[in-house]
Amino acid sequence: MPFAIQELQSAYKAYQQFLARNPPAHHARYIFPFFAGSYFAFRKLDVERVAAIAKSISSSPRYVDIGCGYGDFLEKVRRLVPDASGIEKEGGIFYAFQIPKPDHVQLMPVEGLSGPVDMAFVGWMEPGQDFRRFVARCARCLVTTFDAGGQCGINGGCEYDEFGYERIAWWRTPSWIDVNAELMNRYYSPSLDAKKKEQLAKLRTAHNFWYVYARPNIAGRVRLGLKAQLEIEDANDRYDFESALDECGFCYKEELPALANNRKLWEVMFD
Ligand SMILES: C[S@@+](CC[C@H](N)C(=O)[O-])C[C@H]1O[C@@H](n2cnc3c(N)ncnc32)[C@H](O)[C@@H]1O
Repeated sequence: MPFAIQELQSAYKAYQQFLARNPPAHHARYIFPFFAGSYFAFRKLDVERVAAIAKSISSSPRYVDIGCGYGDFLEKVRRLVPDASGIEKEGGIFYAFQIPKPDHVQLMPVEGLSGPVDMAFVGWMEPGQDFRRFVARCARCLVTTFDAGGQCGINGGCEYDEFGYERIAWWRTPSWIDVNAELMNRYYSPSLDAKKKEQLAKLRTAHNFWYVYARPNIAGRVRLGLKAQLEIEDANDRYDFESALDECGFCYKEELPALANNRKLWEVMFD
């Protein structure tokens, strides 16, 4: 069951109270991700990777962000893929808070999406939301983000292999929860002394995965498109809110001591 508007209303009140205290720049983004950001932490290079994947399929791809919320990520993708659109099941999120609904966001559930689309983006669903078969009905290629342990369906898996897709690549980033925990330890826990904060920082980890899938007949193009993007990737070309990720110890290509396999953040692994 997606979140209730009533719950959102209390969260929105807390968000407004938090803003009234003039918090440091960009903290709201990771403390109230639904209102001020996205549930997955991202950098400009994630947006560029996703756009490059879409453009490897077509120069003007049909791109849809499924469950886009207010469209924070989508709005950035549209700077590179101008016709990209989003669908959102819960129209109440706009009306309850008098937030204008952008024209490129259509209020409808994914179950009603009639394809085909070149690329679907599925960014972080609430645990238990599993609409993979509806995505698979329409999308030639897709990028999905989800937390380690999975969130979809009874068994949690958010993979699309069983729907006839080939996984092309994956990378790891922090989720908003990871960033939130670091912000809380560093700035909002006055009882922690400096030593304790340092110890806690060493335990930080990153739980969000980005998986890229494509139908087998376009897998080669998608792989090449992503590889070409990585060759020109410039981590110095960034959004201002990325500073919060850096200050929390989630830098580009950072290795986290607490991660067993010690993979670098944002490092793309091809299958
Ligand atoms: C956790 S929020 C994530 C929003 C956004 N993608 C982000 O990462 O910030 C999940 C969103 O998906 C929407 N949603 C849930 N089930 C959906 C469905 N079947 N079709 C379309 N949207 C759906 C919810 O209303 C909610 O806005």
